[in-house]
Amino acid sequence: MPTLNDIRSTFLSFFERNDHCVVDSSPLVPRNDPTLMFTNSGMVQFKNCFTGVEHRDYSRATTSQKCVRAGGKHNDLDNVGYTARHHTFFEMLGNFSFGDYFKEQAIPYAWDLLTRDFGIDKSRLLVTVYHTDDEAAAIWKKYAGLSDDRIIRIASDDNFWSMGPTGPCGPCTEIFYDHGPEIWGGPPGSAEEDGDRFIEIWNLVFMQNERFEDGTMRALDMQSIDTGMGLERIGALLQGKHDNYDTDLMRALIEASAHATSADPDGPGRVHHRVIADHLRSTSFLIADGVMPSNEGRGYVLRRIMRRAMRHAHMLGAKDPVMHRLVPALVAQMGQAFPELGRAQPLIEETLRLEETRFKQTLERGLRLLDDELTGLPEGAALPGETAFRLYDTYGFPLDLTQDALREKGREVDTGGFDAAMAEQKAKARAAWAGSGEAVDQAVWFDIAEEVSATDFLGYDTEVSEAQVLAIVSDGKRVDALAEGCEGWVIFNQTPFYAESGGQVGDQGDLVGKDVAGFIYDTKKFPGGLFGHQFTPDGGRLTVGMSVRLEVRHARRSAIRANHSATHLLHEALRKALGDHVAQRGSLNAEDRLRFDFSHAKALSEAELARVEREVNAYIRQNAPVETRIMTPDDARALGAQALFGEKYGDEVRVVSMGIDEGSGKGTDGRTYSIELCGGTHVRRTGDIGVFVALGDSASSAGVRRIEALTGAAAFDYLDGHAARLGQVASELKAKPEDVPERVRSLMEERRALANEVVQLRRELAMAGGAGQGGGIETRDVGGVKFIAQVLSGVQGRDLPPLIDEMKARLGSGAVLLIADTGGKVAVAAGVTDDLIPRLSAVDLLRAAVVPLGGKGGGGRPDMAQGGGSDMTGAEAAIAAGTKVIEGVVTA
Ligand code: ALA
Repeated sequence: MPTLNDIRSTFLSFFERNDHCVVDSSPLVPRNDPTLMFTNSGMVQFKNCFTGVEHRDYSRATTSQKCVRAGGKHNDLDNVGYTARHHTFFEMLGNFSFGDYFKEQAIPYAWDLLTRDFGIDKSRLLVTVYHTDDEAAAIWKKYAGLSDDRIIRIASDDNFWSMGPTGPCGPCTEIFYDHGPEIWGGPPGSAEEDGDRFIEIWNLVFMQNERFEDGTMRALDMQSIDTGMGLERIGALLQGKHDNYDTDLMRALIEASAHATSADPDGPGRVHHRVIADHLRSTSFLIADGVMPSNEGRGYVLRRIMRRAMRHAHMLGAKDPVMHRLVPALVAQMGQAFPELGRAQPLIEETLRLEETRFKQTLERGLRLLDDELTGLPEGAALPGETAFRLYDTYGFPLDLTQDALREKGREVDTGGFDAAMAEQKAKARAAWAGSGEAVDQAVWFDIAEEVSATDFLGYDTEVSEAQVLAIVSDGKRVDALAEGCEGWVIFNQTPFYAESGGQVGDQGDLVGKDVAGFIYDTKKFPGGLFGHQFTPDGGRLTVGMSVRLEVRHARRSAIRANHSATHLLHEALRKALGDHVAQRGSLNAEDRLRFDFSHAKALSEAELARVEREVNAYIRQNAPVETRIMTPDDARALGAQALFGEKYGDEVRVVSMGIDEGSGKGTDGRTYSIELCGGTHVRRTGDIGVFVALGDSASSAGVRRIEALTGAAAFDYLDGHAARLGQVASELKAKPEDVPERVRSLMEERRALANEVVQLRRELAMAGGAGQGGGIETRDVGGVKFIAQVLSGVQGRDLPPLIDEMKARLGSGAVLLIADTGGKVAVAAGVTDDLIPRLSAVDLLRAAVVPLGGKGGGGRPDMAQGGGSDMTGAEAAIAAGTKVIEGVVTA
């Protein structure tokens, strides 16, 4: 008996043999379709290949596509577990032709695979075709030899397939299997078609049209093929089962559930096991594809499925969390075909365990409340919407969980009442906001938030996605459109753009639509979980309802990511270097730099800063994966997570961990270097940061220091600039860069020595008379007193006293007057040898001399005095005045 894994392989290798490229399943979160919550068929990833917008290296492909149908248009959630063929997660096997072969080849391929490779009895097969598709009917008749009564023409949309209101579409032909008259049911198109006798197994779509928003349709330039066959369904058939849950793969999961809960797989808890087996698959695959439980959008669908499964586990009597213990069984079954499952196994297990631990705290009390409410209700009456809302709001029961619990009791929920209670709560939130004073310019956002749900942020996993315009605000008012050159804030249903928060700046990027294009300058958060995109069309017009493509500027976002992750490493490195008192007080994670403010009383020493910088770089080189989890703030703190001081956190937080610290790490394993509560975007591995350079530490405010730093290309450019300048210096010095410090030191020494030498030489020059204005030094005789009076240039004021001493020594007995032009100023010094001091004072000599030089006195001792002036033209007069002083003394 072939296993589901065998059947998948047989399918893919059949088409590979027939020149099809085996393409990996695309992720469950579609990147290229704004209207789809989850990938729900094989053609989703090829949507644009059919319309000719996208070209690939191949024109034939085959896949086994992961699909989720829960939430959104195709929603099978409510029926799962209770029926034989409903799943929230399933695999769709498909073959595709993009303008290559068409019907004439697609039908023979399908027939050959089913009847030869899979060995299905031909007489059990019958088909439907679109009522006008004579061509397909003729091919079936000719190739498969089907009689006319087994080619049923259907006029309804059942045989005209489209993935949604817009996009590629076309007539289809469906292949059915007849389980025989012992099972009730009629052929397709008959009144009994809903019975289980005739089961559709494969749908072949002849893609030939494209439908637009206004309902019109055009013929596509090329004719293509899209087919879909549910693996679980064909598996049941080939394994001789009537129920998809009896196939080997699903049975293995059911048995794992039975083992974990010690409850008979086929006993009264049968439905519970089936729900658990199905939901284990959808939740695990969603988590592996980056969806995390939350209260919005896709994350909320995941949470609903998880909690639904958890209630069923609870019904089986499980006291402790169960779901995470089933993940190994799933990985054993499906990990080979989908390696992402194995890679994400620890994350899946932890996410399930945390969610189940947390939900268990309210689950039991909620179920008790539900029971109490029901005992008071008349037979068959619906549960009041208010009670369902209380279960939702206080006990974390998604509406469909309550509905599921009531289903077993044959009751329903008054959903109108539930919606009314929800609306009332929103109105209260709005009123509370209105009282906060920010109401005037925020009111418009509340209006929008009442109509549309919170923006689904896809930017943790992708930087490109399609999105639908839900609302536009321009000049504080709601508008239907933005014309070229006009600025507005645009709200989409989903976005890859990060809205400024937690110190990380908002994303920038491009918007491209059918008749519009332009740049998004900034992204900000608004009330109600709305992300506003500040946008101006460069061309065309943006209107509400449009589908557009959003693309974040990758290089900018990468730089921001690197800075943000580096900030976490920096925070931890500072704590290690300075102590546990270090707490974040603010941060900026921009494209060109990062800034981190933290509590610490004094400036960092150079050694401390160097240690921090070295440590951050060591963790970058470690290249450890950066991991993200969702948990309660308490669980996060228990792990040792750093939270922002004074910050209010919701009842669940994102926790970002990075780095391996064997010595004294945090986390349950005590090996994690950094754990922080953080909603920002981060690198995948620390090595992506590249390099970290701290530019320095400064004071931010009292008791708060600030470090600015660079990472990646900016850090490299900075270091490169330094290296280039060092290179220039080295080449000027004609030295090797490593010898530059020594060379500079010796140059500085040389310079000091030369400066001293210059002083010495000047002095000598002055002594030799060379620096004198009129040549040699002249000794005058003033009434028997030897007097040297000299004008000098090229010497400074401080050179004069030693010159005076030297000249006095040379005279033996006498007086000296030196006048030096020091460039704009005049320095004057006078000296008298000791033997003359009783009669003559240097101070008198100086005071007389400075007057004609424009000076105002001076001072010193009788043997040496100094002063200054400003007018060199008085030099002769100064000498004359000095001479006169000596004459006065001599004659007296
Ligand atoms: N896209 C087609 C389907 O989902 C094959 O049925």
